[in-house]
Amino acid sequence: MARPNQARLDLGALRHNLTLARSLAPNSKLMAVVKANAYGHGAVTIASALAPLADALAVACIEEAVELREAGIATPILLLEGVFQPIELNTVAELGLWTTVDNERQLAWLEQTTLPNPVHCWLKIDSGMHRLGIAPNQVDHFYNRLQATASVSPDPVLCTHFGCADDLGSSRTEQQIDCFTTATRSLPGKRSAANSPGLLGWPSSHFDWVRPGYMLYGNSPFTQPHPNAETLQPVMTLCSGIISVREVATGKAVGYGAAWTAPRPSRIATVTIGYGDGYPRNARSGTPVLVKGQRAPLVGRVSMDMITVDVTELDDVQIGDEVVLWGKGLPLGEVAQRADTIGYELTTRMPMRTPRVVVLD
Ligand SMILES: Cc1ncc(COP(=O)(O)O)c(C=O)c1O
Repeated sequence: MARPNQARLDLGALRHNLTLARSLAPNSKLMAVVKANAYGHGAVTIASALAPLADALAVACIEEAVELREAGIATPILLLEGVFQPIELNTVAELGLWTTVDNERQLAWLEQTTLPNPVHCWLKIDSGMHRLGIAPNQVDHFYNRLQATASVSPDPVLCTHFGCADDLGSSRTEQQIDCFTTATRSLPGKRSAANSPGLLGWPSSHFDWVRPGYMLYGNSPFTQPHPNAETLQPVMTLCSGIISVREVATGKAVGYGAAWTAPRPSRIATVTIGYGDGYPRNARSGTPVLVKGQRAPLVGRVSMDMITVDVTELDDVQIGDEVVLWGKGLPLGEVAQRADTIGYELTTRMPMRTPRVVVLD
């Protein structure tokens, strides 16, 4: 029998989540973010499903865009970090990609390059996150230079990115929206700011284009329940199986470092998934898993290829029973919190050792 690990993908859920995103921002175009192998789900699988429904896709860099074009995806694709070297601009033009301009260097490369056809640019403004983008007082200058550049098609989009939109109590998002609105007020270009938390929680951030990623994969970016996030459906369900069940007497320790000791006579199931498969090593004892649909706590340290679960409270647990680590019935964000991380990291860092399998088209 093959090792039972699978990251099962439900593409119907993906389409449902995109439809929800559209309904929440009905007056905006939608750019689906599929960078980093579609947050670990599989770039070509996800982008092929989303391309007919989205107005554009977004990736981090040209290699990710080339992979999608080679798979036959013809939808516009934006490079969120733009190009890293001027030589990339030829490929950008040839493949009809869109590119971000977030600094003087990238603008100068465009000004100095002759391309077979002009490229569509997104001008990124630093409205307060202080990670990437030009200063608000430089926007007119950059915009005018872009408009005057032969290699750039008319009317660049003006964009920015939020640092704290997942924190609905923070005033920073309103401040960023104000800064962005003021900096772009006199310019005719279309505007874009909202990531998933912006789309779900900050309607005033929708502007002309929304750019959701995380929510499309069915996960809420908020730590608290939010009405707009309630009907999201997880796209990935990570599954494994039980390969051993044993009785452990009171006071006996389980796993590496003897980090967990049985407080009572316990039944311990060993599940064949570990940090080598993408399950987070930091997950603490008590992190829930689903055994045949019922919650049971992880106990002891996560190994490279195995975890141990306390199934004392469950009836009739057998070798071969299915275990769900996150996804349908067990929110990714809940597991991530128990491992002191975010769901984005868990799916994105999942190695190829764990097969992605489309189970529902
Ligand atoms: C510029 C930009 N826009 C949109 C997104 C999508 O964000 P989220 O996955 O939170 O929707 C990202 C992701 O980090 C991003 O870098």
